[in-house]
Amino acid sequence: MTKNEPKVAVVTGAASGIGKATLITLLNQGFKVAAMDVDAAGLDGLSSVIKLNKDLCETYVIDISSREQCHSTISRIFEKNGRIDVFANIAGIARSEHATEVSEASWNEMLGVNLSGVFWCSQAAIPFLIESNGSLINVASCSGLMGQAYTVAYSATKGGVIAMTKSLAMEYVKTGVRINAVAPGSVQTPLINNYSIPEDINMDLVKPYMGFRGMAEPEEISNVISFLVSDDARRIHGAVIAVDGGLTAG
Ligand SMILES: NC(=O)c1ccc[n+]([C@@H]2O[C@H](COP(=O)([O-])OP(=O)(O)OC[C@H]3O[C@@H](n4cnc5c(N)ncnc54)[C@H](O)[C@@H]3O)[C@@H](O)[C@H]2O)c1
Repeated sequence: MTKNEPKVAVVTGAASGIGKATLITLLNQGFKVAAMDVDAAGLDGLSSVIKLNKDLCETYVIDISSREQCHSTISRIFEKNGRIDVFANIAGIARSEHATEVSEASWNEMLGVNLSGVFWCSQAAIPFLIESNGSLINVASCSGLMGQAYTVAYSATKGGVIAMTKSLAMEYVKTGVRINAVAPGSVQTPLINNYSIPEDINMDLVKPYMGFRGMAEPEEISNVISFLVSDDARRIHGAVIAVDGGLTAG
């Protein structure tokens, strides 16, 4: 590895929303980025970004709910690039349902992507991040910090991501890796734009998590991720940074 080789960041969920914004932000910061997503067409749609950053952007179609796919893809990225400096767990799904109507398939899918997927990727990436004194970032949600009606499965996964972040931070506190989470409030992305809620919910229960400062743009989250993986954040380890316009402060 020569001194001038760029650092390598891996971003899951890179085909859309916060992941795509993070991909672009990290490319602009001089990283080489490996973009992972289950959405092959979405990754193809990044072609203009990739064209502008020839040799600095690779794409990998992968379902993060598969432990085998996470381990083999992340090993492949390491073998190709010789290093992994940043791993951003951003891929996720969301659904609004009455708690009593959550099916086994819906529950298992939510946990498989949002909780197991984050863990399988972290498990595979951590040895490489220890080697590089790198940084692991998990995208949780304000719903992991506050009670949010009609999203019991989603909220359980995000609370789990927060606990996982702290647990991993303690397990690796004597290494050079840094492990943190961001917990966004509402962000203007396809996840929210395509979000459907049951018609018969009580809106009074939903209002408290609409907040007072509107929705964030994806770049307002990716800029915080970019700071957290930078050397300026070298004392931040095991933190959960709410990026929610004050939503969870009250
Ligand atoms: N948008 C919000 O308001 C908001 C708020 C808080 C937290 N978040 C979290 O931010 C993260 C990104 O969400 P977003 O709003 O950018 O959503 P998005 O739908 O725009 O992007 C999510 C990406 O994850 C990918 N993905 C889904 N399942 C996958 C799988 N099994 N394997 C690999 N990739 C998969 C999707 O294809 C998509 O490209 C999620 O973890 C979400 O829970 C979003």
